[in-house]
Amino acid sequence: MPKLQHVIEAQQFTLPLLHELFQTADQMEKILERGGTLDYQNKIMASLFYAPSTRTRFSFESAMFRLGGKVISTEQAHLFSSVIGGETLEDTIRVVSNFCDVIVLRHTEVGAAKRASLVASVPVINAGDGKGGQHPTQALLDLYTIYKELGYIDGLKIAFVGDLEQGRTVRSLAYLLGKFERVMIYFIAPDFLQIREDIQDYLTRHNVWFTLESDLNKVVSEVDVIYVTRIEKERFGDKVEIYDETVRNYFIDGKLLSKMKPKSIIMHPLPRLNEISPEVDDDPRAVYFKQTKNGLLIRMALLTMLL
Ligand code: CP
Repeated sequence: MPKLQHVIEAQQFTLPLLHELFQTADQMEKILERGGTLDYQNKIMASLFYAPSTRTRFSFESAMFRLGGKVISTEQAHLFSSVIGGETLEDTIRVVSNFCDVIVLRHTEVGAAKRASLVASVPVINAGDGKGGQHPTQALLDLYTIYKELGYIDGLKIAFVGDLEQGRTVRSLAYLLGKFERVMIYFIAPDFLQIREDIQDYLTRHNVWFTLESDLNKVVSEVDVIYVTRIEKERFGDKVEIYDETVRNYFIDGKLLSKMKPKSIIMHPLPRLNEISPEVDDDPRAVYFKQTKNGLLIRMALLTMLL
């Protein structure tokens, strides 16, 4: 199997590579139980974030520390004097490549990670590029969570709920699910937040069954996974009543939970706003905080595979 060089988009992960990644993540869990390792103590990771993050940045940094490595970090790369002075992303990446062994990049522009990988002399990991771009490491940890919780991915029935038009985690996870057999995907959103045609075309090309639906109640008792995403108020401008109605229609509470299968799970990439009632948190089917723990394992695994 060719060595993993960069992590840019979900499509690049073949089934054998996913298998290797999940096995490595399982090993990382054992290493973590022992308190970590010093194997990567001569390695440096740069987290170069042009946009805010809590989970992705901290879990990558924690992952690198648990591997014994070192971290140089910023969440305000857009305020670098060189960037304000007009330096291109390509030049910044060429420079930062000299100071580290791997770059974790979050950027506001779709395609930024790909551009960075073309000029970097070290591996680049896409930690989220733009609205409507991709967030492949989130999708990998999501897929790992589904596998750990349910024990299968082939034959999975999953409902994506919320802002599917801009949600990059949904886009990346849809690309990954397209690699498995007999997966059924329900995209649940009002028309103006529905999944874009590029993902629909990809799934059609890969013979994945999917449907666009606006009513969550129609599928809640059918699916194995409800994957909820954030609905941002600013997307609605001054149409506050439409925002309120949308949030109400897709709200996950105890009543909805009672209609779900006993062995199903509820996921969310976090942060949540008003999508899931706190009363759901203690239900064993709510796995959104487990996702963050799995994120640490997947990111440790990715770093070891790249380094
Ligand atoms: N899930 C996720 O990407 O969260 P952050 O924006 O906090 O990294």
